[in-house]
Amino acid sequence: MQNKSQIKSKKRVSEHGEVFTNDREVKAMLDLVKKETDRIESTFLEPACGDGNFLAEIITRKLAAIARSKKPNYKKDQPAYEKAMLVAVGSIYGIDIMQDNVKECVARLYKIVCDEYEKRFKDTYSEDLERGVRFILARNIVCGNALDMKDYKGNPIVFSEWKNPFNGWINRKEYAFEDLLEKGDEALPLSDTQVPYYIPKEIKDYGNIDYRKVFDYAEQE
Ligand SMILES: C[S@@+](CC[C@H](N)C(=O)[O-])C[C@H]1O[C@@H](n2cnc3c(N)ncnc32)[C@H](O)[C@@H]1O
Repeated sequence: MQNKSQIKSKKRVSEHGEVFTNDREVKAMLDLVKKETDRIESTFLEPACGDGNFLAEIITRKLAAIARSKKPNYKKDQPAYEKAMLVAVGSIYGIDIMQDNVKECVARLYKIVCDEYEKRFKDTYSEDLERGVRFILARNIVCGNALDMKDYKGNPIVFSEWKNPFNGWINRKEYAFEDLLEKGDEALPLSDTQVPYYIPKEIKDYGNIDYRKVFDYAEQE
Protein backbone atom coordinates (compact mmCIF):
# COMPACT_ATOMS: atom_id res chain seq x y z
CA MET A 1 0.00 0.00 0.00
CA GLN A 2 1.26 3.49 -0.86
CA ASN A 3 2.20 5.62 2.15
CA LYS A 4 -0.18 8.50 2.90
CA SER A 5 1.39 11.90 2.22
CA GLN A 6 2.45 13.75 5.35
CA ILE A 7 1.61 17.18 3.91
CA LYS A 8 -1.30 18.64 1.92
CA SER A 9 0.50 21.77 0.70
CA LYS A 10 3.54 23.86 1.54
CA LYS A 11 1.23 26.80 2.28
CA ARG A 12 -0.59 24.81 4.96
CA VAL A 13 2.70 23.67 6.48
CA SER A 14 3.92 27.26 6.81
CA GLU A 15 0.57 28.70 7.95
CA HIS A 16 -0.67 25.96 10.27
CA GLY A 17 2.29 23.68 10.89
CA GLU A 18 0.31 20.94 9.19
CA VAL A 19 2.59 17.92 8.92
CA PHE A 20 0.84 14.63 9.54
CA THR A 21 2.41 11.92 11.66
CA ASN A 22 3.18 8.67 9.87
CA ASP A 23 1.53 5.44 10.86
CA ARG A 24 4.61 3.85 12.37
CA GLU A 25 5.19 6.79 14.71
CA VAL A 26 1.52 6.97 15.66
CA LYS A 27 1.55 3.29 16.63
CA ALA A 28 4.84 3.58 18.53
CA MET A 29 3.60 6.59 20.49
CA LEU A 30 0.29 4.96 21.34
CA ASP A 31 2.13 1.83 22.46
CA LEU A 32 3.47 4.01 25.30
CA VAL A 33 -0.09 4.28 26.66
CA LYS A 34 -1.29 0.85 25.57
CA LYS A 35 -3.17 0.20 28.78
CA GLU A 36 -5.34 3.24 28.11
CA THR A 37 -5.96 2.59 24.40
CA ASP A 38 -7.14 -0.90 25.38
CA ARG A 39 -9.63 0.54 27.85
CA ILE A 40 -12.95 1.15 26.12
CA GLU A 41 -13.90 4.15 28.24
CA SER A 42 -10.58 5.97 28.69
CA THR A 43 -10.81 9.54 27.42
CA PHE A 44 -8.55 10.96 24.70
CA LEU A 45 -8.43 14.53 23.42
CA GLU A 46 -6.21 15.42 20.44
CA PRO A 47 -6.05 19.24 20.38
CA ALA A 48 -4.56 19.36 16.86
CA CYS A 49 -6.09 16.19 15.45
CA GLY A 50 -5.63 16.85 11.73
CA ASP A 51 -7.48 14.21 9.75
CA GLY A 52 -7.32 11.85 12.71
CA ASN A 53 -4.12 9.81 12.50
CA PHE A 54 -3.99 9.32 16.27
CA LEU A 55 -7.74 9.16 16.87
CA ALA A 56 -8.21 6.55 14.10
CA GLU A 57 -5.62 4.29 15.70
CA ILE A 58 -7.12 4.85 19.16
CA ILE A 59 -10.65 3.90 18.07
CA THR A 60 -9.24 0.90 16.18
CA ARG A 61 -7.50 -0.29 19.36
CA LYS A 62 -10.58 0.26 21.48
CA LEU A 63 -12.74 -1.73 19.01
CA ALA A 64 -10.14 -4.49 19.04
CA ALA A 65 -10.33 -4.54 22.85
CA ILE A 66 -14.12 -4.94 22.59
CA ALA A 67 -13.66 -7.79 20.10
CA ARG A 68 -11.18 -9.57 22.42
CA SER A 69 -13.49 -9.42 25.42
CA LYS A 70 -14.85 -12.75 26.60
CA LYS A 71 -17.05 -11.39 29.35
CA PRO A 72 -19.29 -9.90 28.23
CA ASN A 73 -19.01 -11.70 24.94
CA TYR A 74 -19.74 -8.84 22.59
CA LYS A 75 -19.64 -11.12 19.56
CA LYS A 76 -22.88 -12.78 20.58
CA ASP A 77 -24.65 -9.97 22.39
CA GLN A 78 -25.47 -7.20 19.89
CA PRO A 79 -26.95 -4.68 22.38
CA ALA A 80 -23.89 -5.08 24.64
CA TYR A 81 -21.62 -4.54 21.62
CA GLU A 82 -23.58 -1.46 20.57
CA LYS A 83 -23.36 0.10 24.02
CA ALA A 84 -19.63 -0.60 24.24
CA MET A 85 -19.17 0.83 20.75
CA LEU A 86 -20.88 4.08 21.80
CA VAL A 87 -18.75 4.29 24.94
CA ALA A 88 -15.62 3.95 22.79
CA VAL A 89 -16.80 6.57 20.30
CA GLY A 90 -17.99 8.95 23.02
CA SER A 91 -14.62 8.89 24.78
CA ILE A 92 -12.67 10.28 21.82
CA TYR A 93 -12.37 14.05 21.25
CA GLY A 94 -10.51 16.19 18.75
CA ILE A 95 -9.99 19.81 17.77
CA ASP A 96 -8.55 21.15 14.53
CA ILE A 97 -8.47 24.63 13.14
CA MET A 98 -9.00 23.46 9.53
CA GLN A 99 -12.57 22.56 8.58
CA ASP A 100 -11.55 20.03 5.91
CA ASN A 101 -9.41 18.15 8.44
CA VAL A 102 -12.33 17.98 10.86
CA LYS A 103 -14.64 16.59 8.16
CA GLU A 104 -12.06 14.03 7.09
CA CYS A 105 -11.45 13.02 10.69
CA VAL A 106 -15.17 12.50 11.41
CA ALA A 107 -15.65 10.54 8.17
CA ARG A 108 -12.60 8.39 8.88
CA LEU A 109 -13.63 7.46 12.44
CA TYR A 110 -17.22 6.88 11.31
CA LYS A 111 -16.07 4.46 8.61
CA ILE A 112 -13.82 2.52 10.98
CA VAL A 113 -16.59 2.14 13.58
CA CYS A 114 -19.44 1.38 11.17
CA ASP A 115 -17.42 -1.04 8.99
CA GLU A 116 -16.53 -3.00 12.12
CA TYR A 117 -20.14 -2.93 13.36
CA GLU A 118 -21.45 -4.11 9.99
CA LYS A 119 -18.84 -6.85 9.82
CA ARG A 120 -20.02 -8.21 13.18
CA PHE A 121 -23.78 -7.82 12.75
CA LYS A 122 -24.36 -7.85 9.01
CA ASP A 123 -27.99 -8.99 9.08
CA THR A 124 -29.12 -7.10 12.16
CA TYR A 125 -27.15 -3.87 11.63
CA SER A 126 -29.10 -0.89 12.97
CA GLU A 127 -29.13 2.39 11.06
CA ASP A 128 -30.22 4.17 14.24
CA LEU A 129 -26.95 3.12 15.86
CA GLU A 130 -25.05 4.31 12.80
CA ARG A 131 -26.79 7.70 13.11
CA GLY A 132 -25.88 7.77 16.79
CA VAL A 133 -22.21 7.17 15.99
CA ARG A 134 -22.23 10.01 13.48
CA PHE A 135 -24.06 12.29 15.90
CA ILE A 136 -21.51 11.77 18.67
CA LEU A 137 -18.51 12.11 16.36
CA ALA A 138 -19.89 15.34 14.87
CA ARG A 139 -20.00 16.83 18.38
CA ASN A 140 -16.74 15.39 19.69
CA ILE A 141 -14.54 16.47 16.77
CA VAL A 142 -14.65 20.24 16.80
CA CYS A 143 -13.44 22.85 14.34
CA GLY A 144 -11.75 25.51 16.43
CA ASN A 145 -8.59 26.94 17.89
CA ALA A 146 -7.17 24.85 20.72
CA LEU A 147 -5.08 27.79 21.92
CA ASP A 148 -7.81 30.37 22.52
CA MET A 149 -10.38 27.60 23.05
CA LYS A 150 -12.89 29.17 20.66
CA ASP A 151 -14.70 27.33 17.89
CA TYR A 152 -14.67 28.54 14.28
CA LYS A 153 -17.61 30.87 15.03
CA GLY A 154 -15.74 32.50 17.91
CA ASN A 155 -17.81 30.82 20.64
CA PRO A 156 -16.19 28.90 23.50
CA ILE A 157 -15.47 25.30 22.53
CA VAL A 158 -17.96 23.00 24.22
CA PHE A 159 -17.57 19.26 24.69
CA SER A 160 -20.21 16.71 25.58
CA GLU A 161 -19.71 13.97 28.12
CA TRP A 162 -21.56 10.80 27.12
CA LYS A 163 -21.99 8.81 30.26
CA ASN A 164 -22.06 5.08 30.63
CA PRO A 165 -25.02 3.60 28.81
CA PHE A 166 -24.66 0.09 30.23
CA ASN A 167 -28.18 0.16 31.62
CA GLY A 168 -29.45 1.06 28.17
CA TRP A 169 -29.39 4.82 28.69
CA ILE A 170 -26.99 7.55 27.73
CA ASN A 171 -26.57 10.70 29.74
CA ARG A 172 -25.20 13.77 28.01
CA LYS A 173 -23.76 16.83 29.74
CA GLU A 174 -21.96 19.74 28.12
CA TYR A 175 -18.86 21.47 29.48
CA ALA A 176 -16.87 24.45 28.26
CA PHE A 177 -13.42 23.25 27.18
CA GLU A 178 -11.73 26.01 29.20
CA ASP A 179 -13.45 24.71 32.34
CA LEU A 180 -12.16 21.20 31.78
CA LEU A 181 -8.55 22.24 32.01
CA GLU A 182 -6.93 22.06 35.38
CA LYS A 183 -7.51 25.25 37.33
CA GLY A 184 -4.85 25.35 40.03
CA ASP A 185 -6.40 28.15 42.09
CA GLU A 186 -9.82 26.59 42.19
CA ALA A 187 -8.65 23.06 42.88
CA LEU A 188 -10.21 21.50 45.92
CA PRO A 189 -7.62 20.61 48.54
CA LEU A 190 -7.92 17.03 49.69
CA SER A 191 -5.92 15.33 52.42
CA ASP A 192 -2.13 15.80 52.44
CA THR A 193 -1.57 12.61 50.52
CA GLN A 194 -3.99 13.26 47.68
CA VAL A 195 -3.62 15.47 44.65
CA PRO A 196 -6.05 18.43 44.64
CA TYR A 197 -8.77 18.10 42.07
CA TYR A 198 -11.20 20.38 40.31
CA ILE A 199 -14.80 19.55 39.45
CA PRO A 200 -15.96 21.37 36.34
CA LYS A 201 -19.52 22.67 36.26
CA GLU A 202 -21.64 21.48 33.36
CA ILE A 203 -23.22 24.19 31.24
CA LYS A 204 -26.09 21.98 30.09
CA ASP A 205 -27.54 18.67 31.20
CA TYR A 206 -29.48 16.96 28.43
CA GLY A 207 -30.70 14.17 30.69
CA ASN A 208 -30.93 10.51 29.76
CA ILE A 209 -31.89 9.00 26.44
CA ASP A 210 -32.28 5.48 25.05
CA TYR A 211 -28.84 4.54 23.70
CA ARG A 212 -30.42 3.60 20.34
CA LYS A 213 -31.78 7.14 19.88
CA VAL A 214 -28.79 9.34 20.70
CA PHE A 215 -29.51 11.53 17.68
CA ASP A 216 -32.78 12.62 19.33
CA TYR A 217 -30.63 14.90 21.52
CA ALA A 218 -30.61 17.15 18.44
CA GLU A 219 -34.16 18.20 19.34
CA GLN A 220 -32.83 19.85 22.50
CA GLU A 221 -29.93 21.70 20.87
C1 LIG B 1 1.47 18.85 12.86
S1 LIG B 1 -0.23 18.65 12.31
C2 LIG B 1 -0.62 17.16 13.19
C3 LIG B 1 -1.90 16.51 12.80
C4 LIG B 1 -2.18 15.18 13.51
N1 LIG B 1 -2.18 15.34 14.93
C5 LIG B 1 -1.13 14.16 13.12
O1 LIG B 1 -0.25 13.89 13.96
O2 LIG B 1 -1.18 13.64 12.01
C6 LIG B 1 -0.96 19.94 13.23
C7 LIG B 1 -2.46 20.13 13.04
O3 LIG B 1 -2.83 21.16 13.94
C8 LIG B 1 -3.79 22.00 13.32
N2 LIG B 1 -3.68 23.28 14.03
C9 LIG B 1 -2.76 24.25 13.90
N3 LIG B 1 -2.96 25.24 14.78
C10 LIG B 1 -4.05 24.87 15.52
C11 LIG B 1 -4.75 25.45 16.60
N4 LIG B 1 -4.39 26.63 17.12
N5 LIG B 1 -5.82 24.80 17.11
C12 LIG B 1 -6.21 23.61 16.60
N6 LIG B 1 -5.58 23.00 15.56
C13 LIG B 1 -4.51 23.61 15.04
C14 LIG B 1 -3.42 22.00 11.86
O4 LIG B 1 -4.53 22.30 11.05
C15 LIG B 1 -2.92 20.56 11.68
O5 LIG B 1 -3.95 19.70 11.26
